[in-house]
Amino acid sequence: LTADHVRIVEVGARDGLQNEKKSISLETKIQLIEKLARTGVTTIEAGSFVPAKWVPQMASTAEICEYLLQSPPPCQHAIAYNYLVPNIKGLEGLVKIMDRLGAAAETDGSETKPAARTEISLFAAATESFSKANTNCTVQESLERIKPIVALAKEKKIRVRGYVSVALGCPYEGPDVSPSKVAEITATLLEMGADEVSVADTTGMGTAPRTQKLLQTLKAAGIASSDLALHFHDTYGQALVNTVVALEHGIRIFDSSVGGLGGCPYSKGATGNISTEDLVHTLHSLGMHTGVNLEEMSRIGAWISSELGRHNDSRAGKATFAR
Ligand code: HMG
Ligand code: MG
Repeated sequence: LTADHVRIVEVGARDGLQNEKKSISLETKIQLIEKLARTGVTTIEAGSFVPAKWVPQMASTAEICEYLLQSPPPCQHAIAYNYLVPNIKGLEGLVKIMDRLGAAAETDGSETKPAARTEISLFAAATESFSKANTNCTVQESLERIKPIVALAKEKKIRVRGYVSVALGCPYEGPDVSPSKVAEITATLLEMGADEVSVADTTGMGTAPRTQKLLQTLKAAGIASSDLALHFHDTYGQALVNTVVALEHGIRIFDSSVGGLGGCPYSKGATGNISTEDLVHTLHSLGMHTGVNLEEMSRIGAWISSELGRHNDSRAGKATFAR
């Protein structure tokens, strides 16, 4: 990454859809991913290998994964498809599909097919109550669960992303989550072998001063900004302000969802992520490069919002598309 390049991790097809009550067809999900792949975005969360009884909307992940491995969407650049795994069983589900198809974690690109990578995200939380609600175990137990996941991923050469949820506020314990605890878990995930860690404001309670304090604490703990991504939900409308604070601290990877889709089933009232369109608009206005075509992304935001029968939560998306 150059200093003025920001990598966007598009989480709309996972974080964005996981909380939708109405069942969304496999075809719509694949269409969404294929459209996103053509916008220039280089990492797309495509689903979660979780039990259907926990997150029913993600039950089609195996089929999505199989489809993407066999028919990677045509696009102009190398691309990574990321799957959330909560435990070793989740990763084993993914590996079983890869083994059956003889698929490598990373493919070489050709003129007609871009290089494609399959990667995973695993997740831990900064508070005990959220850990229990989201993963039915303590924080320590979740870190224990992660060890065999990383080991198998490394064996299969699958890149690993870690998440630390509720880093700037917890639905059960309030906004005052300890920055040192976030730093401790982030450092542990990196030591365990995560290739990057996405620090998540699950509830959107983060403010500019607290984001600053958190980033200072992460730095003081010896964590390099290049190992970090930030994942802002926009519940209180603070995601863009917090993004600018993070940019000032050298962060160059941000998660966002097209149309601002989403929420978290275990964070009541939390809205979607910052919308990709708003994020791209702001980054471009600051002279940063994302490689993402804002107009294309805005079209997708309008399309998927209408498919789902929900408001398009992207201000820049609506404005761009309406022009
Ligand atoms: P548990 O019920 O304690 O699991 O849930 P278990 O190990 O006792 O297994 C229960 C049953 O599920 C068993 O089946 C297992 O085989 C099966 P049964 O014997 O009852 O027939 N099972 C599985 N099936 C398919 N895939 C699997 C799997 N694992 C077990 N992977 C568990 C523990 C971790 C599984 C559960 O708590 C869970 O799935 N949690 C994830 C919830 C989730 O997806 N949350 C949303 C994603 S995280 C998020 O959105 C935050 C993020 O965006 C960042 C931020 O904003 O904070 C990333
Ligand atoms: Mg999230």
